[in-house]
Amino acid sequence: MPPTSTPSDRAVADAVERWFASSARALPWRTTPRDPWLSLMSELLLQQTQVARVAPRFAQFVAAFPTPAAMAAAPVDRVLELWAGLGYYRRARLLHACATSIVERHAGRVPDTLDELLALPGVGRYTGGAVASIVFGQREPIVDGNITRVLLRLHGVRTHAADAEGIAWAWDRAAALANAARDAGRFNEGLMEAGATRCTPKSPGCDGCPLRRWCVAHRDGLADAIPLPKPRPARRDVAMTALLVRDRRGRVLLEPRPDRGLWAGLWQPPAVERSGRRPPAVAATLRALGLEGLVDVSTRSRAVDIETSHRAVRAAVWEARPVHAGRVRAARRRHGVTAQWADERTLATLPMGNAQRRLLDRDIL
Ligand code: ADE
Repeated sequence: MPPTSTPSDRAVADAVERWFASSARALPWRTTPRDPWLSLMSELLLQQTQVARVAPRFAQFVAAFPTPAAMAAAPVDRVLELWAGLGYYRRARLLHACATSIVERHAGRVPDTLDELLALPGVGRYTGGAVASIVFGQREPIVDGNITRVLLRLHGVRTHAADAEGIAWAWDRAAALANAARDAGRFNEGLMEAGATRCTPKSPGCDGCPLRRWCVAHRDGLADAIPLPKPRPARRDVAMTALLVRDRRGRVLLEPRPDRGLWAGLWQPPAVERSGRRPPAVAATLRALGLEGLVDVSTRSRAVDIETSHRAVRAAVWEARPVHAGRVRAARRRHGVTAQWADERTLATLPMGNAQRRLLDRDIL
């Protein structure tokens, strides 16, 4: 049974829809009509990432992958390459798998029901609901960080935004509101927009907010205090020893990281990692990589500190020269790794993030 909508839900939904019709930012995926694939791609790009980071990149993605078939036909590395710098790289692989699945199971057309959307790789309840409602006009709710914050403030609920009960409550509320809306997609996107541009985490701009009349947090002077600050888990320490092996022609030895976990699939110098703050000893690293006797390591290392949202990585980078350049790749292959000698041109095309470039001592190419 659909959740019942109260009269004030109808008034709230109406206010958000009207406000969005006049105040929506012009964003590259907001075309009329919406293109299902480009919308889906935009939503995957926007997961955990701000609009300001995605918007300037979007045209490149559209040009490279105008259809699911175009993406499915491209190697996943091409997607990773364009993704460089956007973080959470697992999403790039999921997007590629999603395109493949659309081609294989839906003849290249994005499906229009929530259930079919949810069966696609990388598509969760939020992304599925966004595409179903915004593109296909289905009455499905969505909840993301912005929407949770807006709803908590609207109802004056004093919890932090990641609280599981709070999120479950937000889905119920969002469903009731989407049900009360004229156009659930426009309402959903409007609520998101209100969260991104008015009801921001710090110094919310209540003056221009379409929800001000109904907002309990605004009425009680609590807009700044809700959501409550979230207890932040400590970053996990990771210690890494990397070998920056350069041959006589200036090429560096690079290899892809494992498909899962930190910086999945991105290319970097051969390295060994463990938890803690002390990078493994260089001799042990050489042994673990199968490069003992094949490279000459310099006497000093360079320390590189990299912080991600969940990890604090301390890397010791050792410069090295190959003793037997010809045997180095074969040694890595015996460990199941396809390493490559990369010249400047190849370097510019391999999928790498800022962290990997910092290991090479270059923040940008
Ligand atoms: N963030 C996630 N999805 C979005 C959308 N459709 N518009 C603006 N910001 C978003």
